[in-house]
Amino acid sequence: MGSEKPLVSVRNISKSFPGGIVALDKVSFDVYRGEIVALLGENGAGKSTIVKILYGIYFPDEGEVYVDSRKAVFYNPLDAIRSGIVMVSQIPQLIDRLTVRENLAIGLRLLGLSGLSSTSRIDEKARKVSEEIGMRIDLNAKTWRLTYTQKQMVEILRAFLLNAKLVMLDEALTYLPLEERRRFYVILEAFKKNGGSSLVITHKITEALEIADRIIVLRRGRLSGVLSREEASIEKVRELMFGEEAGKITYERLPSSPPLDQQCITVEDLVVVDEYGRRVVDGARISVRKGEVVGIAGVAGSGQKELLQAVVGLVKASSGRITVLGRDVTNKGVDHVRRLGVGYIPDIPLRHGVSSDNTILENMAALFQRDKMLIEWEKARELTVEIMKRYQVLARNEETPVKVLSGGNIMKVIVGRELEYSRSALVAYNPTRALDEVTAVTVRRVIKAKAINEKIGVLFASEDLDEVFQLSDTIYVMNSGRVYGPFNAETARREEIEHLMVM
Ligand SMILES: Nc1ncnc2c1ncn2[C@@H]1O[C@H](COP(=O)(O)OP(=O)(O)O)[C@@H](O)[C@H]1O
Ligand SMILES: [Mg+2]
Repeated sequence: MGSEKPLVSVRNISKSFPGGIVALDKVSFDVYRGEIVALLGENGAGKSTIVKILYGIYFPDEGEVYVDSRKAVFYNPLDAIRSGIVMVSQIPQLIDRLTVRENLAIGLRLLGLSGLSSTSRIDEKARKVSEEIGMRIDLNAKTWRLTYTQKQMVEILRAFLLNAKLVMLDEALTYLPLEERRRFYVILEAFKKNGGSSLVITHKITEALEIADRIIVLRRGRLSGVLSREEASIEKVRELMFGEEAGKITYERLPSSPPLDQQCITVEDLVVVDEYGRRVVDGARISVRKGEVVGIAGVAGSGQKELLQAVVGLVKASSGRITVLGRDVTNKGVDHVRRLGVGYIPDIPLRHGVSSDNTILENMAALFQRDKMLIEWEKARELTVEIMKRYQVLARNEETPVKVLSGGNIMKVIVGRELEYSRSALVAYNPTRALDEVTAVTVRRVIKAKAINEKIGVLFASEDLDEVFQLSDTIYVMNSGRVYGPFNAETARREEIEHLMVM
């Protein structure tokens, strides 16, 4: 890139939060035209903070931002958008009751572009993007009808309509299956060919290596290093992200001990039918003994989410039977299952797992509510402090509102709480998806230890096959609603599991 002028320059940016948290400490980097940059760093490294500064959500304590070599000061997102910088976050910012076209029009109106010309512009751009990725975007659809992926797609489309020169994705693809993430990568490549730039925050180093021209790594609020695609390797990136701690990353099977010969969860001939009448779970049989960790492998959308939701009472079984500790819990509802001591880590925890306006302590205290409405606050506080320490939740203290935590830290709070709650069983969907590799290993170790020491049954599903093999005693595979298995995780062949996932 040599002598070319950067599109965006970040110079000596620092930002602290109350309680002495230094989120950013004199960070500088550049983004050039027509490149894809991956921004990596462990949970709490400061990635979202820098992105929010570039989007006018936070104001830096010191340092400057330059766009096209001119100093830029952003007081709100509109300022950033006018300079050609647009962010897409994890949570879609669309208005549900409007149509897709109406949502897109709002964006254009912000820039003072409205009327007929904007409608035809929206249609034109949507058609182009749809062609690029082979995915139709129905502009007349009510936004609430869209899937999460489609909403994120609309967000990107909106960024392009706003004439973005730099699109920033802050873990916007974290909750999408690989196949759908790839569609977005195709969009970013096309955007790049037209001179557009992207700053992509992800936890998947392998994907960063595939898509990024350069990789920028933050560690504990400082710039840890910048690598070109040619220089970068998984090891080098991990070293920059975690330093010494990188040694903790492992994908070897965790040691296990034989489960008890007692049933914890059984699923017999379970059928779940979705709103379109499809059998998303089609005659599933699964058994989890006390002390056993059972992992369900499968491509996203194979029915594993609905199966887990049926077990915890969040979706209805059309037929079949589910038991927990020998009791029939089929269609008895979520409160009933919960009272049996079943913890649950949901699909998209930021939306379904916490109340983000409340503090960490208040979110934790939900555990103590039990049957009475009385909350044992002192116990709750002790436990909260302990969990925050054990998982290194980065926050000022337990009174911090959940919404100011980074995504990974929120995940740690939920995992900690649900593990604590799991007196008989833990049901989890992608339990480490939003976590960095070191924290993910820690969480898997804690889950395994809990199963071994307290003999709880664990039933989890994950799209990450490494995770399934590392954590499970027993593996099942789900494909198009059907369940294959059980397989002993120690002797199961990876190729066979992979084959069952996609056949
Ligand atoms: N609004 C805020 N108030 C207090 N602390 C915050 C706020 N936003 C971020 N932090 C803290 O700043 C640090 C960096 O957070 P963040 O930039 O979200 O990390 P990342 O996105 O890399 O996971 C974390 O310790 C986080 O808890
Ligand atoms: Mg973040």
